[in-house]
Amino acid sequence: MNNDERGGRAVGSNAKMSRVAAGVAVLVLAAVAVVVLGRGTGGEEIVIYSGRREQFVTPVLEDFERQTGIRVRLLSGSATSFAHRIAGERRRPQADIFLANDAGVMEYLRRQGVLQPIGVRGVDRIPEKFRAGDNSWTGLSARARVLMYNKDLIGEDEMPRSLFDLTAPRYSGRFAITRAGNSSLVSHMAAVRAARGDSGMKDFIRGVLANDPPVTSGHTDIRRMVGAGEVEFGLVNCYYFRLQLDEDHNNNVGIVYPDQGDGQPGTFVNVAGAALIDGAPNHDNALKLLEYLLQPQQLQRFSDISRETPILPEAEHPEGGKPIDAFRWMDMPLAELGGVWEDTLDAMEEAGIAE
Ligand SMILES: [Fe+2]
Repeated sequence: MNNDERGGRAVGSNAKMSRVAAGVAVLVLAAVAVVVLGRGTGGEEIVIYSGRREQFVTPVLEDFERQTGIRVRLLSGSATSFAHRIAGERRRPQADIFLANDAGVMEYLRRQGVLQPIGVRGVDRIPEKFRAGDNSWTGLSARARVLMYNKDLIGEDEMPRSLFDLTAPRYSGRFAITRAGNSSLVSHMAAVRAARGDSGMKDFIRGVLANDPPVTSGHTDIRRMVGAGEVEFGLVNCYYFRLQLDEDHNNNVGIVYPDQGDGQPGTFVNVAGAALIDGAPNHDNALKLLEYLLQPQQLQRFSDISRETPILPEAEHPEGGKPIDAFRWMDMPLAELGGVWEDTLDAMEEAGIAE
């Protein structure tokens, strides 16, 4: 199961990127699923563009429909393609809310001027670094970057303590990473780029590739390879560890949060969240939904369903992983991703990792 990252192509502004992205957009939009949840009865509606898997959002949206009578039209597809669509519809917005699995794409849209602040109770409940400076997007659940390992093959004490240990020759051939087009990896590398500069990020990627890792199409491949013992460990989002724990077989896996020691930067934490589109045709209803989603019990449900890390420290957290305030995060507001995210995929490819 892959709970996001269907498109993966970062939005680009140069000619090469625009051509590629436009082609991707046409292909993916053709496959957009439109679901009218159908429990709303009041004649009012909300339109949502969602880059998340339907099963992670429909239970919460259906309850909202039942309670309010507002009909929800959910269009599901690639977050990147929806980002193009929202920017292209800026003069006549067709949707109210954008659900995404990545802060970078939401902040990119904010900088494009196509979002507006979410002025509802509850948004201030979300830790500041997990929402836009003007609250035009907010995280609803969190996703830490972790190393997942096979306990039969490697001890926790032998595991890398830092992300940057992945370049060490002693780990050659022992771990897997995803292809560059995976949106979680793009945002992770955008964070490394923000912290260490363009050359620092490229040096890291070159060092990782020198260790000749299998480069998979997604994280699901990595968790299965680790579980089956085909590699000792892999770089994934935290919920893949929980998904592997849930398997009947090949589930003797452990988790390491990298860069937790004194002087280390902490691990990168991204969010899945919601953005309010500027000029939303059903603005008042959109605010009602956002206020609903930001209630602690709904935030809890979001992360329970997706197996992500609850965004509120006081929430109940799933087995195995750590609560959000129990590990060290990279000290970088996610909003900073928006400035480097756009051409990070190009920079990654320049460093030699295939899309
Ligand atoms: Fe994922």
